[in-house]
Amino acid sequence: MAITLDFSGKVVVVIGGTSGINRGIAELFATHGAKVAVASRKQEKVDDTVTALRQLGADAMGFVADVRELEVLEAGLQTVHDRFGDFDVVVSGAAGNFPALANDLSGNAFKSVIDIDLRGTFHVMKTVYPLLRKPGASVINISAPQAFIPMKAQAHVCAAKAGVDMITRTLALEWGATGVRVNSVVPGPIDGTEGMARLAPDEKIRSMVARSVPLGRLGTPADVGNACLFLASELGSFVSGTILPVDGGWSQNSCGNMSEYLGNAAARTPGS
Ligand code: NAP
Ligand code: COA
Repeated sequence: MAITLDFSGKVVVVIGGTSGINRGIAELFATHGAKVAVASRKQEKVDDTVTALRQLGADAMGFVADVRELEVLEAGLQTVHDRFGDFDVVVSGAAGNFPALANDLSGNAFKSVIDIDLRGTFHVMKTVYPLLRKPGASVINISAPQAFIPMKAQAHVCAAKAGVDMITRTLALEWGATGVRVNSVVPGPIDGTEGMARLAPDEKIRSMVARSVPLGRLGTPADVGNACLFLASELGSFVSGTILPVDGGWSQNSCGNMSEYLGNAAARTPGS
């Protein structure tokens, strides 16, 4: 079997693909020949990303959708299917995060993250399934170390991302018979992203985090994108239901002092 990372003619959809890690993933698939569609809430971010993807040589499109709104997501994904056909790869990565101790979370604050990360993932899974190439499609949920490493000030995120990983594992069972693979990728601390800005807001904390990564550095969106290329390619053809940390070993180190740092910072500035 010839093994290739050429995605020419393949259709890749990245939900939440208009900034940070997910945009990096979309751009990497574009440079490997794929047709790429992205979606998120803000029209200007969608437009900017589609322009960048086209500059990389990809046939690209995008639509505006909030993953909390099932019908809007369905309509947007249908426009992608109408133009590009069956989806070969779906990356679901829309998420929200802010550090807050559980005692400082309102019911609505907890719900907002559950709605985006967990219900949003379910909405994406439910909506893309009829549009996937069967057999052969690869579905990748973007999770987080909080799914299996408890962290202070992250009860909402821990609960939501643990749920995301269980959706991954359950759908690997339910969809396997149709030749669809489902996996989670768990980024570690990724430099220059919104997630890092919210959890590690200054250079001192960034350095502390980098030192706590066994490989001694922060990650890049391309580190995460390379894992997605692998999972979506023939190289990953027998991989399904796995939760794959791409974190330089950070989660093996219980994510260093992140929990203590977040807990102390949130206690100093509740509701910030
Ligand atoms: P980011 O730049 O804020 O990316 C989030 C993306 O999702 C954006 O495109 C955003 O665009 C979109 N989005 C947010 N809420 C949405 C909603 N309700 N409906 C549709 N789209 C929505 O964040 P990031 O730091 O790169 O994180 C990307 C993913 O990696 C997330 O799943 C996160 O949990 C995971 N992760 C990140 C890190 C890290 O170090 N950054 C570590 C572990 C895991 P709009 O604002 O236009 O909606
Ligand atoms: N501490 C405590 N509560 C907070 C908070 C914080 N730092 N930030 C928001 N909240 C609460 C709000 O007060 C509100 O609760 P309330 O109605 O009881 O007052 C609730 O969370 C929802 O906030 P709202 O701003 O209306 O939600 P939204 O749906 O517009 O935005 C968020 C969702 C809050 C997750 C927002 O940060 C977001 O859009 N994030 C996307 C980008 C991101 O987080 N990227 C990193 C990915 S890892």
